Amino acid sequence: MAADLPNSVKQLSDSGAFSSLPLQLYASRDPTAPSDVDATLEPQIPTIDLSLLTGATPRERARMVQRLGRACQDWGFFMARTFRVVVNHGVPEGLRQAMLEAAKKFFDLEEEDKAELRGENVLDPIRYGTSFNPKAEVGVRYWRDFLKLAVHPDFHSPAKPLCFSDVLRDYATCTRRVGMELLKGIWESLELEENDMNKALKLDSCFQVFVANLYPPCPQPELVFGLPPHSDLGLLTLLHQNGVDGLDVEHGGKWVHVKPLPGSFLVNAGDHMQIVTNGRYKSALHRAMANGKSTRVSVLTVVGPSLDTVVEPVAALVSSERPAMYRGWSYRQFLECHQGNQLKEKAVLELLRCRDHEDVI
Ligand code: OGA
Ligand code: NI
Repeated sequence: MAADLPNSVKQLSDSGAFSSLPLQLYASRDPTAPSDVDATLEPQIPTIDLSLLTGATPRERARMVQRLGRACQDWGFFMARTFRVVVNHGVPEGLRQAMLEAAKKFFDLEEEDKAELRGENVLDPIRYGTSFNPKAEVGVRYWRDFLKLAVHPDFHSPAKPLCFSDVLRDYATCTRRVGMELLKGIWESLELEENDMNKALKLDSCFQVFVANLYPPCPQPELVFGLPPHSDLGLLTLLHQNGVDGLDVEHGGKWVHVKPLPGSFLVNAGDHMQIVTNGRYKSALHRAMANGKSTRVSVLTVVGPSLDTVVEPVAALVSSERPAMYRGWSYRQFLECHQGNQLKEKAVLELLRCRDHEDVI
């Protein structure tokens, strides 16, 4: 059956030939279920002003660090405002827009140009695809196409469209810098030494991935997920989008619609944050919803530890009252294991949990 399917949801959406195609394969939600979104939570999403973290007085910085710690502990995600940040510390608005446009142009390439970039392996540095991992997905697909690129420590980019690679290079550098500033603040909020962070995670050679997602209009959005509930795998993910909403994040058993503010990134903690902090800060579950009218584009930077460092709970956060909750694994092992499975909440993280601490979290 897979052979009859289009290569991308873009192709499916553009063709408009839904009746002849197994749209049923994308149906993974119950359209009659009551809404699980709590509209009162959205205004409470914590915001972090990066200018008060990087270019501020020690007092202002201490307040922001505390706020960052609370956001990570209580929510696992926050909005990071970068627009007032001093030159060389933020991500210029023009660059954010250029990145979204370049991503859109990539998806607009001919299907055969993109098909050349269909990677088979999760660690292929350039990977175009659809859904999450159709090979591991039995009987269900998700309504999104993606491009994933390893951009650090080695930089990779598709040759087309022209200009993509120049924009990506700048974007990867700027977002990595923002990610590092946030990580420093988060580390400080746990009263840990900056040096310990570099030792534990080998951030000089951090594995940074750029992801562009395309969610074309869907004729029956109430039946499908763009992406089902999952956590990201790295330390931090920075996301922004083309003004079309669709991201929900979980908080206290409820879902929160997120509309990233202008000039802001939605930042969420990934599984490696949960591992290295010994569960003090948890990764955030999130999902992407499709819509019936507009094409949604999102671009993400995922900052992770170095690929071959074994990441385990940092010693200063392990004690006899709070023993290590996770076994150490390399990020490479984690990514490979994840790719062999269906995308399902925090399934891979659970594999690393030490047996005797099942009730601690
Ligand atoms: C992802 C993801 C959400 C979005 O790519 O891991 O969660 O809004 N994307 O595109
Ligand atoms: Ni995600």
